[in-house]
Amino acid sequence: MTATPGGWRRSHTCGELRAAHVGQTVTLMGWAFRRRDHGGLIFVDLRDREGLTQCVFNPATSAEAHAGAQEVRAEFVLAVQGTVQRRPPGTENPKLPTGEVEVQVSQFRILNESKPLPFPLEDQTEVEEAVRLKYRYLDMRRPQVLRNFVIRDQVYRAVRDYLHAQGFLEVETPFLTRSTPEGARDFLVPSRLARGSFYALPQSPQLFKQLLMVAGFERYFQIVRCFRDEDLRKDRQPEFTQIDIETSFLDRDEFLPIVEGMLVEVWRRVRGITLPTPFPRLAYDEALARFGTDKPDLRFGLELVDCSDLFRGGQFQAFAQVVAGGGAVKGLRVPGGGPLSRKDLDGLVEAAKGAGAKGLVWVKVNPDGLQSPVTKFLEAVKQPLLARLAAEPGDVLLLVADQMPLAATVLGRLRQELAQRLNLVPPHEFRVCWVIDFPLVEWSEEERRWDAVHHPFTAPRDEDLPLLDTDPGRARAKAYDLVINGQEAAGGSIRIHQQAVQEKMFKLLGIAPQEARARFGFLLEALEFGAPPMGGIAAGLDRLVALLAGEESIREVIAFPKTQKGTCPLTDAPAPVDPGQLKDLGIRLVEEP
Ligand code: AMO
Ligand code: AMP
Repeated sequence: MTATPGGWRRSHTCGELRAAHVGQTVTLMGWAFRRRDHGGLIFVDLRDREGLTQCVFNPATSAEAHAGAQEVRAEFVLAVQGTVQRRPPGTENPKLPTGEVEVQVSQFRILNESKPLPFPLEDQTEVEEAVRLKYRYLDMRRPQVLRNFVIRDQVYRAVRDYLHAQGFLEVETPFLTRSTPEGARDFLVPSRLARGSFYALPQSPQLFKQLLMVAGFERYFQIVRCFRDEDLRKDRQPEFTQIDIETSFLDRDEFLPIVEGMLVEVWRRVRGITLPTPFPRLAYDEALARFGTDKPDLRFGLELVDCSDLFRGGQFQAFAQVVAGGGAVKGLRVPGGGPLSRKDLDGLVEAAKGAGAKGLVWVKVNPDGLQSPVTKFLEAVKQPLLARLAAEPGDVLLLVADQMPLAATVLGRLRQELAQRLNLVPPHEFRVCWVIDFPLVEWSEEERRWDAVHHPFTAPRDEDLPLLDTDPGRARAKAYDLVINGQEAAGGSIRIHQQAVQEKMFKLLGIAPQEARARFGFLLEALEFGAPPMGGIAAGLDRLVALLAGEESIREVIAFPKTQKGTCPLTDAPAPVDPGQLKDLGIRLVEEP
C-alpha cells in the first residue's frame, strides 16, 4: 500500500526540515496555506499538523511544476517533491522553525481541491462563532486551535500517567443510567424496550464511584463525560469532561496532597511550571470575608475589609441601621482609583445595585480631604476609616452595607471587575488554592427546605454532626473546592459511608424515605454491605485545559462544542426526529414544532 495514487510516500513532515537537510530530496504532503505569486517565482507555504514549509516553484527548475502551481488555491491538498535548499540570505524567517530552508519543487501533485473557504484561516480577527463552529473542521486547521488540542492531549496523558503511578484503576461507568443529584437538570433518554421509562445521562459518576469503593477498588479514576442541562456560559457546556476520582480509607488531609500532585504534574509537563505545594487553604467563611466569593482570584490583592464597628451607632443612618440589624459594612480600597470618572463611579453604583446591594458609597481620597456623595456623614469616622483601609491619597474607597454574605459578594464582584479594568491581573500567573469547610446545607427560600451545598452524599464534619438536629445551617461539610485564578477547577468531598447518617441527611433535605429508596435505594443498600470510608473529587478537565492554554472560554478547547444555546451549528443538533421513531418510543409531542 502506498500513501497516495502514483506511489509517492511522504518523507518528512512540514515542520521538520532544517539547515541539516539541505541537499536532500524530500516529499511533503499537506495543505496550501498561502500562495504568493512573484511573477517569476511562486511560493506556497505547505502546512500539515507539524508545521509550515515554504515551497518554491521556479520555472528554471521545472516549468511544468511552475505552470501547475498557478492552479493552486488556498487549502488545496498537495504532494510536492523537491530539494531542500537554504533560503537566500535576508529571506530567512526566524519565527518559523523551518524558516532557514525551503523546498525547490521539481514535481508536485494536487491530491484534492478545495472550494473557497467561508473564512480565511490566516485571519486572526473575529469570525462569528456560529460560522466557526459550523465549519469547525476548517477552524481547527488554524495552528492556534490545533495547539489547544495538543495541550488537551498532554493533559490526558499526564493525568493518566500520574494516577496510574499512584495506584489508581481506570474504570468506565454507564451513561445510560439514573439521575445523579448534582443540582442541574437531567438530560433524559427515552427507553424503547420499557416504554414510558427514561434513562438519565449522568451529571457525574458520583453514585457509581461510591459503589466502586464498596466493591473494594480503593483507588478509581475516569476521564469521563458528564451531562447537565443548565444555563450555559463560557465556562459551562451541557456536556463536559471530568477527571473523576474516588479513594477509600483516606481522610481529607491525606487525599488533597494526591490531587495537588496531579496538578503539579500537569502544570510541569504542559507548561514547565512548578506550582508551589501545599496549596494554600482558605475556609469558606474566610474566602467570603476577604474576597467576597468562594472562588477567590489570588493573583491580585484588593482584599475586602470589615468596617462594621466604625459605623455602629453612628450618624450615617443607612449604615448604622444595617449594623444594628446584624449586617456588615464591607470596604474595598481601590489603590490608584483616583482617575475613575464620575461616570465610572456611577457605573459601579449601578453594578452594585444590579448585584443586589441597596447602594454603594464611593469615597475619593484627595490630598485635601474626602470627596463622596455622603462626605458629611463620614467626617466623624474619617481617620479610623482611612486607617482601617490603609488608604492613601489617590485611592478610591468603596463601601457596601448589607447582610452577609451579600455585602461581601457585591464588593467581591466589583473587586474582580476593577482588577481587570485597572490591569492588576498578571496575565501569565497561576494562583491555586483550596476552599474548605463549606456549609453542609443552605436554606432554599423558594422550596422552603434545606439544600445540599455540594451533594447529598457529602459528610458533615464529625464535630458538626449534632448540628444536623439543632442548627443545620451552621454545620460544615467535609467538602473542598480547588480554585485556580478565580475559577472553580475541581470540587469534591469525603462521603457519608454509614447508612444511618445518609438517611439522616436525606431527611434533612426533605427527601422522604420512600423517595430516597426509589431514587438512591441501590446506594443505601450498598452502604449496608461494609462500605469503607471514602472520599474523592472531580476536576473540570475543560477548565484546566482552558487555563493552561490561556483561553477565556472552554469552547476553545472542546473539539465540537455547543453554542450558548446548546446547539451544534455543525450537525444541527438537537433536531426533530421522524414520527416513526417517536412512535417506537411511545412518545407523542404536545405541540407539533
Ligand atoms: P462538581 O459538580 O463540583 O462535582 O463538578 C466538578 C467540576 O466539574 C466542572 N464542571 C463543569 N465544567 C464545564 N461545564 C459544566 N457545565 C460543568 N459543571 C461542572 C467544574 C467542577 O469543579 N460528583 C462531584 C465530584 C465529587 O464530589 O467527587 C461533582 O461532579 O470544574
Ligand atoms: P440614602 O441614605 O439612601 O440617601 O443613601 C445615601 C448614599 O448611601 C447613597 O449614595 C446610597 O447609594 C448609599 N447607600 C445607601 N444604603 C447603602 C448600603 N446599604 N450600602 C452601601 N451604600 C448605601
